[in-house]
Amino acid sequence: MYFLFLTLWSFLRMASLNPTNVWILRDNVLVLEVTGGAGQHLLRCIHSEDEVSRRPDEGAGIFWKRNGVKIPSVGNVLTVALKETSGRGNYSCHDEDGSFLNHTEVLILEDNGKKMRILEPDHINCSAPNYNGRFQCFWTWDSLRVGKVALVRVGRHNDPNDLRCSEDAEGKQWTCVSSTSNISCSVDPSGNSVSCIDDQQCPYAEEVNVIRITVYLVYDSLLENYSKSFYLSEIVKPGNVRITKVNKKAIEWTYPESWASPNSYFPLTFEIAHLDELHLELTSRTSCWAKLNRRTTTVCFRAKDALSNSEWSEWSPERSVLIRELKRVTARFTHTTRRIRSVERVTSQSERT
Ligand SMILES: *[C@@H]1O[C@H](CO)[C@@H](O)[C@H](O)[C@H]1NC(C)=O
Ligand SMILES: *[C@@H]1O[C@H](CO)[C@@H](O)[C@H](O)[C@H]1NC(C)=O
Ligand SMILES: *[C@@H]1O[C@H](CO)[C@@H](O)[C@H](O)[C@H]1NC(C)=O
Ligand SMILES: *[C@@H]1O[C@H](CO)[C@@H](O)[C@H](O)[C@H]1NC(C)=O
Ligand SMILES: *[C@@H]1O[C@H](CO)[C@@H](O)[C@H](O)[C@H]1NC(C)=O
Repeated sequence: MYFLFLTLWSFLRMASLNPTNVWILRDNVLVLEVTGGAGQHLLRCIHSEDEVSRRPDEGAGIFWKRNGVKIPSVGNVLTVALKETSGRGNYSCHDEDGSFLNHTEVLILEDNGKKMRILEPDHINCSAPNYNGRFQCFWTWDSLRVGKVALVRVGRHNDPNDLRCSEDAEGKQWTCVSSTSNISCSVDPSGNSVSCIDDQQCPYAEEVNVIRITVYLVYDSLLENYSKSFYLSEIVKPGNVRITKVNKKAIEWTYPESWASPNSYFPLTFEIAHLDELHLELTSRTSCWAKLNRRTTTVCFRAKDALSNSEWSEWSPERSVLIRELKRVTARFTHTTRRIRSVERVTSQSERT
């Protein structure tokens, strides 16, 4: 009997499981976590019972709109039916005469391991220009679903309870503090990346804790979270190499300006592509100069942290090694043309007089 009661009780609990969790994202924005099964959630228009009972009709005449469209429900409390992602939307409630009273945006976060809709799972990538603590995480929207960043949680700790995040007034910057980190992130103007800075990152010390970032994206009141964990040493990607000197025999360059200094402490490895009409030859260097083959007409470069297994920089734009030679020839040619012109002018003048 007791067993039957327990089974029944757990069955009832299962049946009323949706939403599995409810939390407030910010004022007037509610998140319902659901598994996809049927369920319901009660929305209140006026939250204070006292205020409701003070109304002449005790709230009976209040009516509701979902995304601006009137729905056939009246009263202070609205029952929102949930199934998969239905039930999401921006709900407003109004006085009998139509005047606006309140609103709640209901976001649905489906937590059932199903296919993500806004981005492909794992399609968030992060990259850092150096070890100073700045990094950027970026993604590509599904072509039909261009959403917004709803929330960012980021810290150097695996315990989510040890993270306190706060949001700026515009909902575009978040600062998260834990016992081991203080990281803030803001949405870039493009809307498809966030730029973050780890206030406690020391570039000269080994990173002890991994950075974990979770970006919550919203599209059509659908909320999804995408996470990434990394050490800066894994995502560091140098900027473009700058060429300082080039002639037919040799080429010299410097470290990217954005790279960490001193360079002796943060060495880079370079790869140089020597191109001529027929060949492509790759060489590696740890120094900042290289001899050029006689045939080489064009070079380009990329760089990578010499001490970690992180990404190569982008290839630099191609640089022609013939440019100087060409310039000299062009200059001589222009000079000659100018002399011819002036001779012509003098001759024509003397002819006129
Ligand atoms: C309006 O709704 C929000 C929830 O979306 C609630 O926090 C707030 O108290 C409500 N305002 C009133 C006046 O009841
Ligand atoms: C939801 O509706 C309220 C009131 O109509 C409006 O102020 C708010 O901007 C809407 N939110 C969104 C995300 O459209
Ligand atoms: C993010 O979503 C997944 C399911 O998609 C869920 O299991 C996980 O708990 C969520 N993480 C947070 C921090 O809400
Ligand atoms: C992220 O990296 C993966 C693997 O390198 C790549 O396939 C994917 O296209 C990248 N996504 C973005 C948005 O750059
Ligand atoms: C986190 O870093 C910011 C920016 O440097 C600073 O203003 C803030 O006081 C720091 N917070 C804590 C708790 O260390």
